[in-house]
Amino acid sequence: MATTPSPQPVTFQRQADVLVVTIDNPPVNALGVDVRRGLVAAIEAAEADGAAAAVLLVGAGRNFIAGADIREFGKPPQQPSLPEVCGRIENCSKPVVAAIHGAALGGGLEIALSAHYRLALPSAKLGLPEVQLGLMPGAGGTQRAPRLIGVKAALDLMLSGRHAGAKEALAIGLVDRLGEGADALAEGLAYAQALAVAKAPVRRTRDASQALADKDAQRAALEAARADTAKKSRGLFSPMKIIEATEAALSQPFDQGMALERKLFLQCVDSPQRAGLIHAFFAEREVLKAPETKAAKPRPIESCGIVGGGTMGAGIAVAMLDAGLPVTMIERDEPSLARGRAHVEKVYDGLIGKGRMTAEAKAAVMARFSGSTAYDALAKVDLVVEAVFEDMAVKKAVFAELDRVCKAGAVLATNTSYLDIDEIAAGTSRPGDVLGLHFFSPANIMKLLEIVVPAKVSADVVATGFELAKKLKKTPVRAGVCDGFIGNRILAVYRQAADHMMEDGASPYQIDKAVRDFGYPMGPFQVSDLAGGDIGWATRKRKAATRDPKARYVQIADRICERGWFGQKTGRGYYLYPEGARTGTPDPEVEAIIDAERRRAGITPRSFTDEEIMRRYMAAMINEGANVVHQRIALRPLDVDVTFLYGYGFPRHRGGPMKYADTVGLPKVLADIREFAKEDPLFWQPSPLLVALVERGADFSSLDQSE
Ligand code: 3HC
Ligand code: NAI
Repeated sequence: MATTPSPQPVTFQRQADVLVVTIDNPPVNALGVDVRRGLVAAIEAAEADGAAAAVLLVGAGRNFIAGADIREFGKPPQQPSLPEVCGRIENCSKPVVAAIHGAALGGGLEIALSAHYRLALPSAKLGLPEVQLGLMPGAGGTQRAPRLIGVKAALDLMLSGRHAGAKEALAIGLVDRLGEGADALAEGLAYAQALAVAKAPVRRTRDASQALADKDAQRAALEAARADTAKKSRGLFSPMKIIEATEAALSQPFDQGMALERKLFLQCVDSPQRAGLIHAFFAEREVLKAPETKAAKPRPIESCGIVGGGTMGAGIAVAMLDAGLPVTMIERDEPSLARGRAHVEKVYDGLIGKGRMTAEAKAAVMARFSGSTAYDALAKVDLVVEAVFEDMAVKKAVFAELDRVCKAGAVLATNTSYLDIDEIAAGTSRPGDVLGLHFFSPANIMKLLEIVVPAKVSADVVATGFELAKKLKKTPVRAGVCDGFIGNRILAVYRQAADHMMEDGASPYQIDKAVRDFGYPMGPFQVSDLAGGDIGWATRKRKAATRDPKARYVQIADRICERGWFGQKTGRGYYLYPEGARTGTPDPEVEAIIDAERRRAGITPRSFTDEEIMRRYMAAMINEGANVVHQRIALRPLDVDVTFLYGYGFPRHRGGPMKYADTVGLPKVLADIREFAKEDPLFWQPSPLLVALVERGADFSSLDQSE
């Protein structure tokens, strides 16, 4: 009987007349070269084993197969390729069954599509998510999926990257049968044996034709997807390649379609977008691996408290309620508490208005919400987030109360944006329990959560912050204490670079457009109008006393704020928002203010190309990002990247500012900074880390290893 020795990632063993092929390549059975070789060997063995009447493919662990091994992209290819493996499976002379549980994604689904029969268990998640990695299905997915389920359903999966559950997969014809339990081996074996007994034929997906029979309907679906994609996927490379390859499934023989798919797939592999998106995929997993999460167990969190029911407190309360936690809100008086509760309810009423929540569901959620003006109500909670005014004295008073009432072991967190958390912690008798949890606005929507780690905090408290992020479905990034932590500290610098360019001759509208064209959803001046110009104004006033008098200070924003033009909420800011419009139009009066400020500062305006705008904007961001890593405020460059991807709208296909810097080349970034420094040496001081990396010919990614 044919068997392979463990610990091969693919083993096979005959059970009665079925050759069971098990893919066991933890953590997710990705299709690395050894798995590919193992699969070919298993099919060869099935052909050679006279007693095997059918073949069963099954994954060990929690998944069938999660796809190609993403770490292999960009490295020299190793044989056999995945399309070859799929072809070998499809050409097997004996019926091959795929029994799918957990993930059958990308190349994993392509393996299943190459099998002759497919069974999905209730846990199955099937999809072709390559587009999310800047890729397209590259092992026959663009040719086999349309032949099996038609162009519309195939393009839906390939362009969205979403996962289909087992029932949907059956409904659209992606699988033949639904399993019932959790045992893929037992159910797959029963299916394969039944097929063997019935002498079921091999059914090659490459020969399937029914789903494509109505050519006109298929072509219409293709053209509709093309038009939609042209509108939506701004600047993304792979979606149009997916459509092009799918078109070949309609119009060309299988082998020609496969050849085109290969050509287009390799173009995607070579694109910087693929590198950026795969960097983002790994980076968002690496950020979870902070030293404290490895060293300590989180404390249990079954209930939470919030102090302050304003913009942030209410949003954080909603995030916690949505995660199923009971929440107690403290406000300074009854009217403020009523407002806090109303802020929370407004979010749910909005959902009811859009038909996304029922009144009963809202009532059930609000039953977990309570409010009080007395701190004693927090005596039993496991974790408190303070979100009161950004004022050290107020915060210290709040923490004194928390110190007085909270039980031993409760985590005491502050949502401060800029203040010194070491100082806040020092004011309590339990600095080991004090942490920064910096949420982003709107806190129930934004995915980023900076976990700010003061000097004296215990490791298990930090680990609890990461655990809370997981419960709230947020992406945590570990940050050190400094003015602005990772994100706002870097933002302050590149915002100044934008202000300098505005004063030197670029209009805010041109800068916003250049930033949008780079891939951001909004430019910095639009963001300011959305957030409210008064927030930045208050910060500037607070910092006025400590500002270096020699540093360049652009006063345009102050002139605009002095007129009460705070952005969308006041109907005008940098832009005009007539009658509550959400998209602004350029304002000639703002341009006049800018002109006046230029004259006052003795500046003759010059023109900027969009390319120069982005070079300066990004150089400022990257340079401060390097400082933040250098000073260990961020553990690694990838922590800066994830902060910007999740908190600041940085275009994901560029991987984050530090990844982008690697793509451009650090010597070029440094040369830019040195050139800009000729005009303003105080602002453009090259980061020592950037200089050191350039000197040793390294890039930021060389610092990205896990801590
Ligand atoms: N290759 C290599 N490593 C992978 C991987 C892959 N395809 N998918 C996941 N991993 C790694 C993760 O990096 C993580 O590693 P770590 O523990 O060292 O951080 C580990 O597996 C576990 O991953 P998750 O934390 O994401 O585990 P979950 O259980 O939350 O999710 C999953 C599992 C749904 C499979 C999720 O990992 C996922 O979506 N993976 C990517 C799937 C994908 O995009 N497949 C397409 C690949 S491209 C392709 O197939 C091209 C082909 O058409 C030619
Ligand atoms: P806000 O002004 O909307 O709300 C503050 C609330 O705190 C008010 O409702 C006020 O009544 C209450 N409050 C003040 N003193 C109190 C006390 N002693 N006890 C109980 N409640 C008290 O302010 P916002 O915007 O919600 O900010 C709160 C904190 O979150 C600040 O530290 C801010 O820097 C930070 N933050 C703000 C972000 C934003 O975009 N607004 C983003 C991230 C952090």
